[in-house]
Amino acid sequence: MASVHQPKPHDSGPLHVTGAARYTDDIPAPAGTLHLAFGLAAVAHGVVTSLDLAPVRAMPGVRLVLGPDDFARMPDVSPSPAPEPLLCTGEVQFHGQPLFVVAADTHLQARHAARAAKVTFEEREPILTIDQALAAGRLLEDPLEWEKGSPDDALGTAPHRAQGRIEVGGQEHFYLEGQAAMAVPGDGDEMLVHASTQHPSEIQHKVAQALDVPFAEVTVQVRRMGGGFGGKESQGNALAVACALVAQRTGRAVKMRYDRDDDMTITGKRHEIRIDYDVGFDDTGRIAAVVFDQYVRCGWSADLSLPVADRAMLHADNAYDLSAARIRSTRLLTHTCSNTAFRGFGGPQGMVGIERVIEHIAAHLDRDPLEVRRANFYAPGNTGQTTPYGMQVEDNVIHGIVDQLTETSDYSARRAQIAEFNATSPVIKRGIALTPVKFGISFTLTQLNQAGALVNVYTDGSIRLNHGGTEMGQGLFTKVAAVAADAFGVDATHVKITATDTAKVPNTSATAASSGSDMNGMAVKAACETVRDRMAQHLCTAKVLWHDRDEEGKGIIDRDGHPVIREHAFDCAPDDLVFAADQVSDGTHSIPFWAAVQACYVARISLSSTGYYATPKLAWDRTQRSGPRRPFYYFAYGAAVTEVALDTLTGENRILRTDILHDCGKSLNPALDIGQIEGGYVQGAGWLTTEELVWTPPGPATMGGRLATHAPSTYKIPGCADRPRVFNVALYENENVEATIHRSKAVGEPPLMLGISALMALQDAVRAAGSDVLLDAPATAERLLNAIETPRGSGW
Ligand code: MTE
Ligand code: MOS
Repeated sequence: MASVHQPKPHDSGPLHVTGAARYTDDIPAPAGTLHLAFGLAAVAHGVVTSLDLAPVRAMPGVRLVLGPDDFARMPDVSPSPAPEPLLCTGEVQFHGQPLFVVAADTHLQARHAARAAKVTFEEREPILTIDQALAAGRLLEDPLEWEKGSPDDALGTAPHRAQGRIEVGGQEHFYLEGQAAMAVPGDGDEMLVHASTQHPSEIQHKVAQALDVPFAEVTVQVRRMGGGFGGKESQGNALAVACALVAQRTGRAVKMRYDRDDDMTITGKRHEIRIDYDVGFDDTGRIAAVVFDQYVRCGWSADLSLPVADRAMLHADNAYDLSAARIRSTRLLTHTCSNTAFRGFGGPQGMVGIERVIEHIAAHLDRDPLEVRRANFYAPGNTGQTTPYGMQVEDNVIHGIVDQLTETSDYSARRAQIAEFNATSPVIKRGIALTPVKFGISFTLTQLNQAGALVNVYTDGSIRLNHGGTEMGQGLFTKVAAVAADAFGVDATHVKITATDTAKVPNTSATAASSGSDMNGMAVKAACETVRDRMAQHLCTAKVLWHDRDEEGKGIIDRDGHPVIREHAFDCAPDDLVFAADQVSDGTHSIPFWAAVQACYVARISLSSTGYYATPKLAWDRTQRSGPRRPFYYFAYGAAVTEVALDTLTGENRILRTDILHDCGKSLNPALDIGQIEGGYVQGAGWLTTEELVWTPPGPATMGGRLATHAPSTYKIPGCADRPRVFNVALYENENVEATIHRSKAVGEPPLMLGISALMALQDAVRAAGSDVLLDAPATAERLLNAIETPRGSGW
């Protein structure tokens, strides 16, 4: 049976649930391994006036302490061209910024020692909020602006007009496995690094630069992460570089993992955003023009903020045809952790903006927001409509999805029932909302859209699979193994999944932008087909000879002690040779796959190949306003209907039911894809409802800027009990119009934005409670209660 398109379980599922799966910190460490901890800045902004590390050196078990003075050149850990020093040199940029690093015999000794430093700061007032950054003019780069049509004219002549603002908070990744790395020195300048990272090649580069050795000296391996969600694209660089530096100086293996509180304090999060909008529309809610002003809080350094902010602009239209639009983006620097990639990579923030505009229009016209959404969708299929950034929409299936979902979720009848319920329920109010998703697939930095693979076939017929993608729980390895199994026509159990390794596949991109299976799947398919075609060529042109083997795989020997040699002559053209069901066949005769491999080996046919893939059709330059524009190969679509119940006395609420119909093209693995959709939705709903990041305001003791929500006790991610009571997830019957791997579509990020329906369902319930406040996010119980208690007339 074929492996692709089948609902196969995650290859590591049993290991995950039994605790046997090995993560970076579980790799047995060599004897004498040292453990690291960073000493952290205790203020958000200021200068270090004295740093006395002598008490740290005197602590038990401490072997080495490195401060800023111990480096001739401070190593850089930035993923962008703008440098980001490993340790603070000069101005403290955020509370929790690493000041020095301690190496000790145990993890706890290192952590204790890190707290023994005598540090004094001259504290300065930190810039924490968007308002403060705007007032101080702290910009990461000049604002970027894209325009389509004549928005000012169209706003002026539109029958209706509305203005507003939405503030949307950031989000902590809360991967279950925290950041971790281990460096093991080898011969000469060699360094082997194990890291929990989505981007092994970047770790390789950063480590090599820090050690001042060629990239070829450094090998980075990662078997799996316990979740990354974008938080391990760049945020693991510091740990790996620190480990490698200490390993180089001591000759010992070195490992580091952040404690949860440190992880939350040090590492970047989803970008907080403020969106101001001005929209003109007609009586049906059809948008004539919209102007968005996006203010993005980047934190203290560039990290990935520019492409994240770009993607927010690129999703300001979501699934809606905007004939006239202006989108402006201002990227602001604050004295907080440097915000980074997070599932959706800015797309969700852009999308919340237009979804809020739709809600505003619906409130203004007193219409069902779904009618307003439908009035604005891009036309179905390929009708030549272009996005505000000039890309033609060629594959629009949102109409089909929404039609089917309104039917299967019984949207209209339930809307009426909810109105009835609300009419007689004074305290509990219900709300319902359907929101769509259209998400662009490809890295917007075009050069990243390439991938490589290395496939080895061994003489027993087993296959070893290497590619540049990393496994973080999303099921990439399972999907790609299915692609390899099908290419050779063997059962997936014959395909050995291996750790990602920069020594096997070089120059890889981060596993990100949801493109892991699209790109690595294609590269693996190419590698497998090269080997398979070589095999077919030989098998169809020569007499095929192999040493027969018994059930247990042992070579069979005849009575005289000679190997039993079988032979066969295929009678077909190489292209017609069929690899299926663990056999190779010309239609009349078949031999086992392993026998075919053995025959090829004996005939000196190469059984190993690389494969390569570059995503076609892309054309994009963020700074250019004209010329061909196609940042994305295609779009992934979906829609969700969420129903909530809201207690108007407390603001507490729960999701009663969620129905999702999502487009994975022709799904590579429906079971894994449904898992991605469920997880993505819940993570998105958490972002917009309960997950609130709070930085302390100025107080008597400090000038503020400390992350107050640095632990699960104060930062509320969705738990099992917060999942929708009824959760119906289905895949939309579709095929990618583009020639992607087996016509599938990427699924990693798009479903996160289905969670927007939870925010909008709460908005609906708040309206039912008699409030006209348009919600900011996260819509925490507190914020909901405030909205309900705000007198009518002070909202929109
Ligand atoms: N699913 C799990 N279980 N864990 C993760 O860390 N990361 C998400 C998504 N799904 C993630 C996940 C993010 S941010 C991306 S970009 C994609 O998976 C990356 O994997 P893919 O390209 O193979 O879909
Ligand atoms: Mo995902 S945010 O592209 O790692």
